[in-house]
Order: sequence, then structure tokens, then C-alpha cells
Amino acid sequence: MDLFAQDTPTKVMLAPGAYWLSGFALPCMPVLWPCLADHLSGHPARQMMTPMGYPMSVRTSSMGSWGWVGCAAGYGYHAFDPANQQPWPAIPTVILQLANTAAREAGHPDFVPNSCLINVYAPGSKMGLHQDKDELDFTQPIVSVSLGLPATFLFGGPRRTDKPVKIPLVHGDVVVWGGASRRFYHGVAPVKPRQHPLTGPQRINLTLRKAR
Ligand code: SIN
Ligand code: FE2
Repeated sequence: MDLFAQDTPTKVMLAPGAYWLSGFALPCMPVLWPCLADHLSGHPARQMMTPMGYPMSVRTSSMGSWGWVGCAAGYGYHAFDPANQQPWPAIPTVILQLANTAAREAGHPDFVPNSCLINVYAPGSKMGLHQDKDELDFTQPIVSVSLGLPATFLFGGPRRTDKPVKIPLVHGDVVVWGGASRRFYHGVAPVKPRQHPLTGPQRINLTLRKAR
């Protein structure tokens, strides 16, 4: 399999229950992007802290009933934005529908996320290998949508030491993992400095989850 030769929408199985759906989000971008830009202007992505007290590499905002927050007390889901003590804005319908159809395409029907984490990667930002494990219901998949600058997504296995495959994600790509691969390790290599016509010098990732 040549992972670097995808120029038309394709579906690549990464592991049981895990698929790279290249270009899957492109058709809804004209509706999705204005919603996201509007959200970020009112709820700017902020640098969260690791439990060790270090600033995270990415900046973060959230939508939905549950926002993901990192602070000295640990990682977890909160119903209120710590910046203003207000509930997070609802997830726009276009994003809910995208997540649902992408999950179905990957074999996970009836996915209704209640959390949309927005990670903003400036050049050099990265995400170390980790498992998504702060959720209560591991029968529900993760849907991850990429916008803006390309990035190398690292998708490993059930153990941190499993050698990850390198997926060259570009604007509009979606990755879904659930079922047998729901708790597989994954991360993002440092984003290279470039300009994207929509997002400028950044990559944005939406992670849709059923948090609670
Ligand atoms: C994450 O795993 O939280 C982010 C994945 C990505 O940015 O592609
Ligand atoms: Fe993750």
C-alpha cells in the first residue's frame, strides 16, 4: 500500500475498525468552515496544560455538551468553558452530520457525538502518542477531521511501543477509529510551516467523541 499516492477520495483501512477517509469532509467544507471560523472568533483556542504542568503544544477550543479541558488537575470533560463559566456552544448540524456519516462509512452506525474538540496546530505543534481514554463508552468511535495545513498522523496499536503507520493527512481528510482499534495509540508529527488558503499558517483538527 502506497500511503502517499492518494489524490482522489479513498477509504483505506488502517486497522480493524479504523479507516482513513481521504477527502471525505471536502463537500461540506463551504458550510463547515464559516461555522468553525465563527466559533473560533468567539471562543479562541487556548493553550491548555498537561497534568505535569507544562503547556500543551496545540491550542484548544470545544463545542458540544462536553468540552475537553487539560489543566494541572488532569484531563477531562467539562460542561462549562473555564474561560467564562458558560456552556460550550452546540455542535453545528453540518459537523454532527459529517461525524455520523463518516462513522457509518467506517462501520460504526448511529454515532451521535456530544463533544467536538478543536485543536489548532501552529507550525511546529505536535501531539505525542496517546490513547483517547477519557470517555465513558468505548463502544463509540472517534471521528477526526483535518483542516488546513497537512500533517503526518501516526497511528499505532494497542501498546505505546507498537510502531505507528504514518498517514499524510491533508485538508478535508477524516480518520475514524472504533471497535477493536478504539484505544489504539495515535499522535501527530510536528506540523511544517506553510500557508493554507483557508486556514493560513495552521492546521485545525476536529475530534468528535461521545464523551459521556
Ligand atoms: C488527537 O488525537 O487528539 C488529535 C489528532 C489529530 O490532530 O489529528
Ligand atoms: Fe487523540
